[in-house]
Parts: sequence; structure tokens; C-alpha cells
Amino acid sequence: IKIYVPQDAVALGLGANRVARAIFNGAEQRGLDVEIVRTGTRGLLWLEPMVEVATAEGRIAYGPVTPADVEGLLNAGLHEGGEHALRLGKPEEIPFLKRQHRITFHRCGVVDPVSVEDYRAHGGYRGLEAALKMDAKDVVAQVKDSGLRGRGGAGFPAGIKWNTVMLAEDERKYVVCNADEGDSGTFADRIMMEGDPFNLIEGMTIAAVAVGATRGYIYCRSEYPQAFRTMRDAIANGVKAGTLGENIMGSGKTFHLEVRLGAGAYICGEETSLLESLEGRRGIVRAKPPIPALKGFLGKPTLVNNVMTFTAVPWILEHGAKAYAEYGMGRSLGTLPIQLAGNIKQGGLIEYAFGITIREVIEDFGAGTLSGRPVRAVQVGGPLGAYFPDSLLDTPLDYEKMAAAKGLVGHGGIVVFDDTVDMAKQARFAFEFCAAESCGKCTPCRIGATRGVETMDKVIRGERAEAHVELVKDLCEIMTDGSLCAMGGLTPMPVMSAINFFPEDFTGPGQQSF
Ligand code: NAI
Ligand code: SF4
Repeated sequence: IKIYVPQDAVALGLGANRVARAIFNGAEQRGLDVEIVRTGTRGLLWLEPMVEVATAEGRIAYGPVTPADVEGLLNAGLHEGGEHALRLGKPEEIPFLKRQHRITFHRCGVVDPVSVEDYRAHGGYRGLEAALKMDAKDVVAQVKDSGLRGRGGAGFPAGIKWNTVMLAEDERKYVVCNADEGDSGTFADRIMMEGDPFNLIEGMTIAAVAVGATRGYIYCRSEYPQAFRTMRDAIANGVKAGTLGENIMGSGKTFHLEVRLGAGAYICGEETSLLESLEGRRGIVRAKPPIPALKGFLGKPTLVNNVMTFTAVPWILEHGAKAYAEYGMGRSLGTLPIQLAGNIKQGGLIEYAFGITIREVIEDFGAGTLSGRPVRAVQVGGPLGAYFPDSLLDTPLDYEKMAAAKGLVGHGGIVVFDDTVDMAKQARFAFEFCAAESCGKCTPCRIGATRGVETMDKVIRGERAEAHVELVKDLCEIMTDGSLCAMGGLTPMPVMSAINFFPEDFTGPGQQSF
């Protein structure tokens, strides 16, 4: 009997190891022949730890399971899919999962993450097999035609970037994966690395073959020890299986891949800062140009993409660019891994075609706020994204439509706040975050963020609030225009959206005129 217990960071935090142990001990006492398989999560985080059992009619899920539930579950026949209050039925029939367009994440929570055999048994490596039979330029053309855009946040067309690196003439090129997922409320990269690391390995290998690189690095944030371990083990198993390293799948091609751990700086998610860190220096932003595609790691042409960009590629190579481009809208094609968090009943990962509205995500998938109070503000695109009021929640998640609404798709994080939120404090937080995470290279960001905190403190205390709000607006203009990178350049986005959409929170208690 196969019983699947997740070991992603959320499930582990909620006691999944103790649940696995309790199932093992309970099964042993009952003389049941149970094999416990540790998986990633399917992304239904409010149901974690979600335990699944293989039965004749398919997998049956139970959740959220605590160690104290296990005895009762085994008595109810967990191992046969027996009835119990925690029984959820077939996981793929749970509406949250059933309604999604699971392309990139279809193996997450299903497979044994570090098993090459399991990966292959679930369709893995078909994209790489196809790519190895093609000319490099045709692989790049597939990526271009799919419409895939960089999922780190900027939405730059991946095919154009791949083409730049492919055409760069150099005896050495690199492929680097940005897995420094620092945005608040985001966790798609983590879920992928913990649940289906071979998808990332396959995507990066296809990229290496296409652009002519023989060495690659995954830059993983230090806050993700489980993802780091899973990636490291998967890479070792890939090398043993001949799908990574020298002579990949007998093709004569070489790709050496390593996972490196960051040291906990948000700014190292910015690509040039990441490269500095990877080279062993402090993570400080480099001025662009030159772009990393031409002069990146150790000064060599380097393809830097996010985890979500690389992991979209195997599916595209397997099913064709056209099939991928059938999802989405306008110039935002394919699927977006949406991460729903904050004050929400059903938080988790939602993979869906671009074009779904923010309201649909919150209501249809999230089932409203956890507190049961009305939604007041929704921050989309991480800590540098805009706060949207109710009137903007029908905006579709599409790069252009979000930009037109003065917001960001970013890395697809959505954080929900109810009507108890104080938006002046959120604006202060944006500056505080920037002050803490700024690399310090340019003045508007280094000094501006600190002045922003001080000025917002005055607004909150009600010291000439109106005048100080004007100062904050001025400061935002300077930071937007004068910062070298998105950290300082986008901090004004949450601040200004809070001021514009929730002005009533910026009058301070006891406001005086200037
Ligand atoms: P960018 O627009 O400067 O560049 C986007 C990408 O395209 C980069 O990799 C750049 O090197 C590449 N590129 C630009 N021109 C190219 C060309 N001609 N050929 C080949 N490649 C080219 O944006 P940047 O500074 O990399 O990122 C800013 C964005 O990051 C923001 O819009 C924001 O949405 C997002 N962001 C994401 C965060 C996260 O944690 N995921 C955090 C902060 C910001
Ligand atoms: Fe560094 Fe901030 Fe300037 Fe970016 S905007 S280069 S983080 S100081």
C-alpha cells in the first residue's frame, strides 16, 4: 500500500514528519505492508498536511491531518480509502485543483521528487528528448513562438533572451536560474523545487543545449533549506541516471548543474546582484548595459531566467509552442502560477491561464477572507506591487492590463487584506522594506527609503499629515525616476497606490494644516 505524505516546507511546518511517523508506526502495529512516499505539495496549502493513499480507483486524499488524527484514520481504513471526516476524495476532483490549468505543476505533489524513474513515468524528459533531436535555433524558435515571457516579474520575452545568448559568440556560456524567491506572499518556485525539481533541471538542460552553455547554477535563497536539499539530491540522481552531466542521454552534450545557496538578501533576486553574489561578492546591483545575456556570470554570456520560466519550457517542447500559446490573452500567453496568501480562507498555488481576474482568484479559489470580513485591499506582485481597492479587482491578470491599472503581475503573488488594514502603515512598511533591503548603490533608494519611513511616521502621528503626504509623493517621484533598479524604482508603487486609493487613511489622527 502506497501512502503519500508531503514534505514541502508548509507541510513540514504543520507536522508532516510526525504524521508520516505515526502512519508508519500505526501500520506496523496493524501488520499492514505500507510504503510511505514523501512528495511535494499540490498547493492546496490550507489542507496541509494532505495525505493520499493509492487505491484501485485512484488516489484518495485526507486533510489536514495531524499526528493525533492518524490512529482514527487507520481505524477508519485510511489504507483502503475508507470513510472519515477528513476524507477529501480524489484530489484532482477537489474544485480548487479541478478548475486549474495545471501544465507546469501537473507533477507537483504527485511524484517522488527525487526519483528519475517516477519523473519519466509521469511524462518527464519528453521535452528534452525532443530538443536533443532539434537544431538549437529551432528550440529557441519554439520558446519564442510559445509567447513565454519571463516569470520573475519583468515579463521580458524569453525567446528573445535565449536568442541573444545563443547568438553571443564565446567559448563559454552559462545558464543561471534565479530561485531567490524573495517577494512576500510568493512560493511557486519553492513548491516546484520541492515537488518537481527535475522539471527545473529539464528546463535548464533544454536551455543549455539551445544557447550553447555547458554549465549552470541554481541560485536558491537561504530561507529554502528543503528546496535546496531536494534540488541537490535530484541533481545527483540525474547525474547517476545519465540525464545530466557528461553525454546527456547519449547525445554527446554536456551540462553540469549546481545549486548554490544565497545569504538572505532580497536584492539578490535582481539578476545582476545575483550574479555578483554567485561570483562570491556582496550582492550589489550592476548597471545595465551590458545585459547579462551578453556579459553575465564571470563576464560571459549568461542566460538568467526565473524558476517558473525554465519550468514552463519542457511542456512547450513536448506539446509545441502553439499548444502553450492557446492559453492566455493578448501578449500574456500560457499559464501564470498565482500564489494566493494573506487573509484568505483557501490559500495556495493556482496555475491558471493569463486573463483570470483578481476577483475570480479571491472568490472562486480563495473563498473569501479568513476573518470573514470584507476585502479592502489586495496587493498583487509582491512587496513592490500596487494595492488594489475593490473597484480594480476585475482587472485581468495580464502584463499589459495590470500595467494600465498602474500595477504589476510580478511573480504572481496576491496578498489579501480585510477592512481592518491601515493603509498608511502599509505605505510605511513599503519604505521600511526598501530601507532594509536596499543594496545602497544609488542615493534615491538608499536615502529615500529612510526619509520615506520618517515622513510616513509623521503622517501616521498626524503631524501636518497633508503636507507630509505631499512630501512623500515628491519622494516617490524621485525614487521612480532616479533609482538604478526595480527595488528603489518600484517602492513608490505600493506607496502611491495606498495614497491614491485609500486617502482616508492618510489624514492622521488630529491633522493640522501646514
Ligand atoms: P528588465 O526589464 O530590466 O529586464 C528584464 C529581463 O530582460 C532581464 O533579464 C534583462 O537582462 C533582459 N533583457 C533586457 N533587454 C534584453 C535584450 N535586448 N536581450 C536580452 N535580454 C534582455 O527588468 P529587471 O530589472 O530584471 O526586473 C524588474 C522586474 O522585476 C520588475 O518589473 C518587477 O516586476 C520584478 N520584480 C520581481 C521580484 C521578485 O521577487 N520576483 C522582486 C522585484 C521586482
Ligand atoms: Fe541598490 Fe536600491 Fe539603487 Fe537598486 S535602487 S541599485 S537596490 S540602491
